[in-house]
Amino acid sequence: MNDCKPIHFLLNDREIEVREPAGLLVLDFLRRRQHLTGTKEGCKEGDCGACGVLVGAFDDAGRLWYQPVTSCLMPLGELHGKHLVTIEGLNLPAALSPLQEAIVREGGTQCGYCTPGIVVSMTHCLMEKRSAVTLDDMKLALSGHLCRCTGYGSLKRAGAAMADLWSADERAAEDGRLESQLGLLARKGVLPDYFPRIPERLRALQERLERDRTESGAPPTFRIAGGTDLYVQRGEEIPDGPVDVLNHHPEWCGVSRHNGTLHIGALTTFEALSHDTAFREVVPRIGEFMHLIASLQIRNRATLSGNVVNASPIGDMTMLLLALEADITLEHGGKERRLPLRHFYKGYKSLAKEPNEVLTRFSIPVPGETMLVNFEKISKRECLDIASVNSAIKLTLRDGVITGASLAAGGVAPIPKYLPESSALLVGRKPDESLVRELLPRIQQEISPISDVRGSADYKRLLLRQLVIAHFVTLFPETIRPESFNSGMQGASPR
Ligand SMILES: Cc1cc2nc3c(=O)[nH]c(=O)nc-3n(C[C@H](O)[C@H](O)[C@H](O)COP(=O)(O)OP(=O)(O)OC[C@H]3O[C@@H](n4cnc5c(N)ncnc54)[C@H](O)[C@@H]3O)c2cc1C
Ligand code: FES
Ligand code: FES
Repeated sequence: MNDCKPIHFLLNDREIEVREPAGLLVLDFLRRRQHLTGTKEGCKEGDCGACGVLVGAFDDAGRLWYQPVTSCLMPLGELHGKHLVTIEGLNLPAALSPLQEAIVREGGTQCGYCTPGIVVSMTHCLMEKRSAVTLDDMKLALSGHLCRCTGYGSLKRAGAAMADLWSADERAAEDGRLESQLGLLARKGVLPDYFPRIPERLRALQERLERDRTESGAPPTFRIAGGTDLYVQRGEEIPDGPVDVLNHHPEWCGVSRHNGTLHIGALTTFEALSHDTAFREVVPRIGEFMHLIASLQIRNRATLSGNVVNASPIGDMTMLLLALEADITLEHGGKERRLPLRHFYKGYKSLAKEPNEVLTRFSIPVPGETMLVNFEKISKRECLDIASVNSAIKLTLRDGVITGASLAAGGVAPIPKYLPESSALLVGRKPDESLVRELLPRIQQEISPISDVRGSADYKRLLLRQLVIAHFVTLFPETIRPESFNSGMQGASPR
């Protein structure tokens, strides 16, 4: 244990330094080493929210932010220089917070197992939205949480009551910066008294750690980005091996646009991408698409590169990046190479990548013409579920004619599938119903779904047909109508 590098961070109101494996799960660290058992272990796969904690840090602009995350999928090493807040760190010494009181009043808890994680997420919502908090905000905060015995009605009522916590004067006095509002949040009892001093303490800690930074010598067994795939698949092995915590590379995060190309750092998280102004200019409906993908806690952790390198045939962001015709940049030992993402997949989970190469960047061309993008996904339940079949499309248009098209589909081949022939068929044509009718059988020739737990091969063929129709109905609602395609499986047969 002693050859582990020190990990130094704020745990609730305490500054601590621990020598533990960097790949140890934060959840196991909290419960087994620190005996902070308020953070619950449920599914240990990111699905239930019982293990929810907050992680705080400064962004590039020096602003303090907190994110709700699932501690069951987070490596301890990533906490270096950050603030970890558990339910114990949100409890007031001698009273309930207004949120906790409202949950009790509304009968929002029975067995209580899920309650700590829920309080953590709802408190985060109060920190983030403050006086402008609404019922919809609270519903979003609850979205990554499963409650088996109480249900959600009472929790929603408790959340709705939080909108009345603030006076008109307090609303008017808000300056939009969390750091300057921490005092008010503490006076309101939303946060305990130690919170207003956190920014100063965290800044001092980060400056000290920056001065002491040293490089690790051991080659990594695992490269962990958000950990949301890796811990689910290899969780038992990771704590024992040397790991490379990729999130220590802030230079591989964020989005910029130069000379007609969007550059996206490989470690950009789903949630960060959905709020990025430069990306929203290119894909304005990204926020809408995100509601179909994971939960807020997972989106705060899940990175684009993790989705792409994990190589699941149904990765949602992989589909979007394929349709956006992204190139990827791989780096090792100071050498870089770039290739189209569509050439990255050689077979099921087989990649055109050397083991030591790290994916650092995506580059997406942004043409001058009108660009339309759509993403569709069908899963067994609408939220927090992986796709049975998903698909993304990008079309560029000039004078009503398609000048460029790229279509990708997931769950219909061993790899995330780019459909070159179907895409080519669209170019030079006007988007109308006859074009879609011509396209549907062509798509069926390019895919090779198999029957598995998520549906039979025929069912997946039918799903993709419906998703492709949905792309065109969504993008051209004036001219392409869903009822024109009501004749069952027409176009879904490969023959
Ligand atoms: C509850 C839950 C819900 C989910 N819902 C969805 C969903 O709706 N849609 C969806 O698509 N996915 C979903 N996922 C899967 C997962 O969140 C995504 O695939 C995510 O993008 C993985 O990213 P990560 O950063 O967590 O990857 P990690 O788990 O850290 O890494 C995955 C793999 O990629 C490698 N890797 C990561 N980054 C790099 C890099 N820069 N260079 C080289 N190798 C790298 C790692 O070494 C590892 O092999 C869900 C997962 C959970 C637990
Ligand atoms: S234990 Fe279920 S999300 Fe972490
Ligand atoms: S109160 Fe029992 S699981 Fe939610």
